[in-house]
Amino acid sequence: MDKPVGIVAAGSYVPEKRLTNADLEKMVATSDEWITTRTGIKERRIAGAELVADLATAASRNCLNGTGIRPDFLIASSGTTERKFPYLGSIIANRLQLTGLGALDLNAGCSGLVYSMAVAYGLMQTGTYHNVLITAAEKMTDYVDFSDRSSCILFGDGASALLLSTQQTDHQILTFELGTDATGYDQVVMGGPDADFYFRQEGRSVFKFAVNKVEELVTLFKERLGLRDYKRLHIIPHQANIRIIEAAADKLKIPLDKFVCNIHKYGNTSSASIGLVLQEGWQEGRFQTGDFLFLIGFGAGLSWAGAVVRW
Ligand code: UT7
Repeated sequence: MDKPVGIVAAGSYVPEKRLTNADLEKMVATSDEWITTRTGIKERRIAGAELVADLATAASRNCLNGTGIRPDFLIASSGTTERKFPYLGSIIANRLQLTGLGALDLNAGCSGLVYSMAVAYGLMQTGTYHNVLITAAEKMTDYVDFSDRSSCILFGDGASALLLSTQQTDHQILTFELGTDATGYDQVVMGGPDADFYFRQEGRSVFKFAVNKVEELVTLFKERLGLRDYKRLHIIPHQANIRIIEAAADKLKIPLDKFVCNIHKYGNTSSASIGLVLQEGWQEGRFQTGDFLFLIGFGAGLSWAGAVVRW
């Protein structure tokens, strides 16, 4: 039987500077009405001079603060780091004065946070690691072409962090489901040489993939847990487009308020988004003991990663 692993704490950090739909109206041929109805986004945060490591460190500090726990392993999820070396995990470890712990970077697109949770969970089953810090930090705006209205309205910068522990019995992680449909590997592209540098995607096709994946994972987890209804359920999906969430809710016949969302405030922050929502819902006291949280990531790869947490 697996060693129990629980979430001890969550943290987040977003830059102060806001970019509203009204600001974007002055930059490209778009409107607040189009962005709001097609995506649900009202504003997003812009990191400016702050680097991915700054965002990740701030979220990690916020997460560790008050726990009294010194992590023995660190996983840093990001697709937008500025440097190859030193890698992000080592920079964060240096800033947090966590010398000596295991540290690695992980990139699985927007599914990166949940993938990191699964890797952490596996490491903890070996018995060598007991407290793993996960950060997911993204500076998407470095890769946004602010003259392309189809993509520049979507993204924002931000970071989240989770502390997992074998000493935590509440907020226990029960199961995972991970995958990649590599036939769609080129449907979300960013950071390549020349023409591929700026973010681009096959929007409609990725949209359909995302709706189907959310529906599939919610159904799978419901069956796996033997849940008869959705009363104690909170679904925390990657925040890419409110219409993806509405379409999935419709297909599943689940009320929209079972989905926890904050896309209107931050836009799509890639792998940081699920942690940003989880942290906010936790802080607001939205989850009760015994509730089930379904974390569902999807994106570049085309990847998906789901996790179930019993609160
Ligand atoms: O996190 C990574 C995973 N990514 C996702 O999950 C994203 C999935 N895809 C989507 O969320 C949506 O496909 C988008 C939000 C990216 C696009 O929405 P859409 O409803 O699929 O719009 P579209 O690209 O089909 O464009 C519809 C129309 C076009 O005009 P015509 O050709 O019909 O005249 C676009 O030129 O809307 C136009 N358009 C805009 N108009 C005003 C595209 N962007 C804008 C804009 N403002 N910002």
